[in-house]
Amino acid sequence: MLNEIKNICCIGAGYVGGPSMAVIADKCPYLKVTVVDLDQTKINNWNDSNLEKLPVYEPGLKEIIKRRRGENLFFSTDINNVISSSDMIFLSVNTPTKTTGLGAGEASDLKYIESSARQVAKHARGETIVVEKSTIPVKTAETIQNILVTSKNKLDSNDNNKIFYVLSNPEFLAEGTAISDLYNPSRVLIGGDNEKAINCLHKIYSNWVPPEKIITTNIWSSELSKLTANAFLAQRVSSINSISALCEVTGANISEVSKAVGMDNRIGKEFLKPGPGFGGSCFKKDILNLIYISKFYGLSEVASYWKSVLELNSWQQERIAKIIVTKLFGNLSNKKIGILGFSFKANTNDTRESPAISICKDLLEEGANILIFDPKVSEEKIYNEFPNLASNKKLNLNSSKSVYESANGSDAIVILTDWEEFKDIDWSKVDNLMRSPSWIFDCRNIINNREIEKTNLNLWQLGNNS
Ligand code: UDX
Ligand code: ADP
Repeated sequence: MLNEIKNICCIGAGYVGGPSMAVIADKCPYLKVTVVDLDQTKINNWNDSNLEKLPVYEPGLKEIIKRRRGENLFFSTDINNVISSSDMIFLSVNTPTKTTGLGAGEASDLKYIESSARQVAKHARGETIVVEKSTIPVKTAETIQNILVTSKNKLDSNDNNKIFYVLSNPEFLAEGTAISDLYNPSRVLIGGDNEKAINCLHKIYSNWVPPEKIITTNIWSSELSKLTANAFLAQRVSSINSISALCEVTGANISEVSKAVGMDNRIGKEFLKPGPGFGGSCFKKDILNLIYISKFYGLSEVASYWKSVLELNSWQQERIAKIIVTKLFGNLSNKKIGILGFSFKANTNDTRESPAISICKDLLEEGANILIFDPKVSEEKIYNEFPNLASNKKLNLNSSKSVYESANGSDAIVILTDWEEFKDIDWSKVDNLMRSPSWIFDCRNIINNREIEKTNLNLWQLGNNS
């Protein structure tokens, strides 16, 4: 019932649904929060007494799960029953980019949104607030509303008490810092047109978020704000990466340039770190969505503007692979390369769109033997990212248990993720383990050059050849 939200359900127990519901349960002990998913293994892992098995790795998450699970936080596959007993339902299902059909390669595939909305239409009772949390193209709320109303009428013409209110509440958490982002959000955005429904969601967040940080907008502004925020962030990464290439040829140092540029308050210092390109489930998908809707509305210049941000991102990955090949005498066959870091950024086990995938593919194509070490990504997850690799190339792909195992007998080490532990590598030990001439490619600029200078290792740093 509106005004008296007691039971919350979240459909989708992934990187967004899991942590965001854990924090709501933690901050609102009076609510019963149940996260549901189709994936039985995932739910089993969320329920496992061994917290190392949680499907999502996020600093601080384990502790919350330990505190709240079984108290007011539950994980279940009993989707229909949980829907029927919920007053508020968050949709947090995946929305990958379409691979076939209309809008293939650009538009988001809304099949999971649609099927979960149909389930809600069928099983919800009374007044229910449906909150879209997945990243989705603008106007999806309208689609959800249509599905809810039309399927309700068809399925249950006798149940006139079924009423749905759709809100948009995009999630701005970044992986790796999800829990602190959820505890201290820069803003909470609620889009909708029903004041009572908005107030219900507002009340939940008011338990820990200061009122001035909770903003309400119309539903389209809320949806478009999420796409725009991600597009702007991605654009900054492509901007600094474009300058990293310029630094390499001119002798400028990208860290110095980045610092000098970021000290201008109007620009700001965040999100100016050069790297192998942005990854993650959102940036590329959201920009593709912007491109798709811009084209749909005939705004081809807007579409090509945003397309260039993606092109630069792919180019950065390709050029890194080419530099590695060139430095190793243009030949990688019978050479071993240790890859340090496979997740798309530090502090997450998420590998979606990780730049490591395309860089490793290019190196494998050149005939290299690759040994990947990542502190949190499982071997299985690494292999899953190369489904179409020819079987002879698969033989050249392996995972390792440590930095030093990856370094053993290798011709090059390539740092692709900014994991803290890669800042403390014992480079003289690495030097002893590698084959000469040995190259270190630091694509995250995290190595202290002075430590390398004490060794025989050759160092290449992104945007810094001075
Ligand atoms: C992003 C948004 O930050 C978040 O608000 C939104 O909800 C989801 O998408 P996320 O993808 O988890 O979050 O990570 P983010 O920290 O934004 O990093 C994205 C990518 O950009 C990573 O691959 C990261 O390594 C890269 N990056 C980021 C850089 O290369 N340089 C930077 O300065 C910042
Ligand atoms: P995100 O990063 O957006 O959280 P994930 O892929 O990590 O994306 O999580 C989305 C989850 O949604 C997956 O675990 C998937 O199994 C689940 N899911 C998709 N469709 C449905 C559905 N109809 N009912 C329940 N869960 C669903």
